[in-house]
Amino acid sequence: MTPGHHQAAEAPFDWEALRKYARDAMSRAYAPYSGFPVGAAARVDDGRTVSGCNVENAAYGVALCAECGLVSDLVAGGGGRLTHFTCCDRAGNILMPCGRCRQLLWEHGGPALLVDATDGVRPLAELLPDAFGPTDLTER
Ligand code: THU
Repeated sequence: MTPGHHQAAEAPFDWEALRKYARDAMSRAYAPYSGFPVGAAARVDDGRTVSGCNVENAAYGVALCAECGLVSDLVAGGGGRLTHFTCCDRAGNILMPCGRCRQLLWEHGGPALLVDATDGVRPLAELLPDAFGPTDLTER
């Protein structure tokens, strides 16, 4: 180490720990109609971890995606910005968020939100290009 440079390198983000939160939430999903339980988890910029699972309904179209629960957890817990996000299927494998949920994530994480994608970690801007967002309401 160069003398005078005593700062430890920042630890890499622990994606595996975040995936464990998502799997845990997935294990409590309520998905009796699709048989497709989903879990989602995210890190917040204040260090919190938030999570959610899908919650279906006898009126099929009313189903809540796992990301809906995650966003509710975020806001009810004091808000903040999402920095890292992961989602999983029943096998615990990475699942890409549906289109509507990418929009939900955009609102609370923006273009820089890091998403645990099946082909590697990618910023949300790549997964929701030319997104409509909060600034469109104020800048036009
Ligand atoms: N689902 C999610 O929870 N999140 C997604 O991003 C994709 C889809 C849920 C909705 C429904 O309960 C089940 O997966 C099958 O579509």
